[in-house]
Amino acid sequence: MNKPEIVVSGARASGKLHIGNYLGALKQWLQLQSDGHTCYFFIADLHGITTPFEPKELHQNTLDVAATYLAAGIDPNKSVFFLQNHVLEHATLAWIFNCITPLGELERMTQFKDKSQNQESINAGLLTYPTLMAADILMYKAAAVPVGEDQVQHVELARVVARKFNSRFGQTFPEPKHLMRDEGLVRIKSLSEPTKKMSKTGDEALLMDDEPEEIMRKLKKAVTGSDASGQNPGAENLLFLLSHFGTKQQTDHFLNLQKAGQLKYSDLKEALAQDISDYFAEFREKKKELLAKPKFLAEVLGDGAAKARKVAQATLLEVKQKTGLL
Ligand code: ADP
Ligand code: TRP
Repeated sequence: MNKPEIVVSGARASGKLHIGNYLGALKQWLQLQSDGHTCYFFIADLHGITTPFEPKELHQNTLDVAATYLAAGIDPNKSVFFLQNHVLEHATLAWIFNCITPLGELERMTQFKDKSQNQESINAGLLTYPTLMAADILMYKAAAVPVGEDQVQHVELARVVARKFNSRFGQTFPEPKHLMRDEGLVRIKSLSEPTKKMSKTGDEALLMDDEPEEIMRKLKKAVTGSDASGQNPGAENLLFLLSHFGTKQQTDHFLNLQKAGQLKYSDLKEALAQDISDYFAEFREKKKELLAKPKFLAEVLGDGAAKARKVAQATLLEVKQKTGLL
C-alpha cells in the first residue's frame, strides 16, 4: 500500500504465540504500523468465547497475549491497541448487521461448517462470528484488513454487509480489502513433523517466550532426516528460520555446507538456538516487565479502548441516524 490507509485487524487470544505466529502474522502488523498506516489492532476476546474456554485461562491468556503484542513492538502511541470487549459499540453494530445479513450467507461460511462439525453443541455465536467481525472492521471504516488465509472469507462477508447496508441506508461504509499474508512464503513447519505447519496445538512449538535452554532443548530434538525421495523438510525449515533470525553471512555459510554435503545439523541447531534466543531476548525482558505491572497494562488497554471508542461512537451514531434507531 503506497498511501496511508486505515488498517484493522484482530487476533484471538488462544494461548502463547509461537515463532510461526510471529513471522506469519505479528510481523505484518509491525510492518503496517511502521509504514505509517492508521492501525487499529485488538484482541478478539468476544470471538474467543465462541469455542469452548475456561474463564481463568481466558483471563490469563488475554493478559499474556496483550503483553506479547506490546513487548513485540505494537506501540500504543502509533497504533490503537485494545480489547474488543472494551468497546461495547462492536456488539451493537454486530447486532444491527445480524439484522441485514441473510442466514444463508452465514451458514455457508467454511469456518462455521468446520467448527460446528467438530463441536458437540453449536452456539449461535459461532454462526454470527462473521457479522461481529464485519462490525470490527466497518466500525473504523477500514480500507485494509490483514488476515491469514482462513479469514479471507470473513472479510469478503464484511464487504457483502457493507454493500447491503449502503444500498439500504445510503453510502456509509467503504468496502474493505483483505491483505492476505503470503502463507507460501512464511510457513513455519513443526519441529517434530516438518511436513506439517507449526501450530499451537501441535507438539512443542517454539514459543516467542521460550528461554534459551528451552529453545536449545526443542531444537536439539528437531527432526532433520531425509525422506525416501531425498527431501529434507526438517533441515529446510531450520535453514529458513536461520535466514530470518540469523545473519545473511551465517545463512550462506550453512547453505554452502549443505551444498557440499558437509552440513552438521548439531552445528546448525546450535547457531539457530543462539540466534533465536538473542532475537527475542529484549522481547522476553519487556514482556516480563509488562506482566509484572498489571496496572500499567490495564491502563494501556484502557487508553487504547478510549481512542477506539471515540471513533466507534461516531460511526454508531451515524448508523443509528441512518437506520432510524433513536
Ligand atoms: P495456530 O495454527 O498455531 O493455532 P492461529 O490459527 O491462531 O495459529 O494463527 C494465527 C495466525 O498466525 C494465522 O493467521 C497465520 O497466518 C499465522 N500462523 C499460524 N501458524 C503459522 C505457521 N506455522 N507459519 C506461519 N504463520 C503461521
Ligand atoms: N477472526 C479472526 C481470526 O480468527 C480475528 C478477528 C476478529 C479479526 N475480528 C477481526 C481479524 C477483524 C481481522 C479483522 O484470526
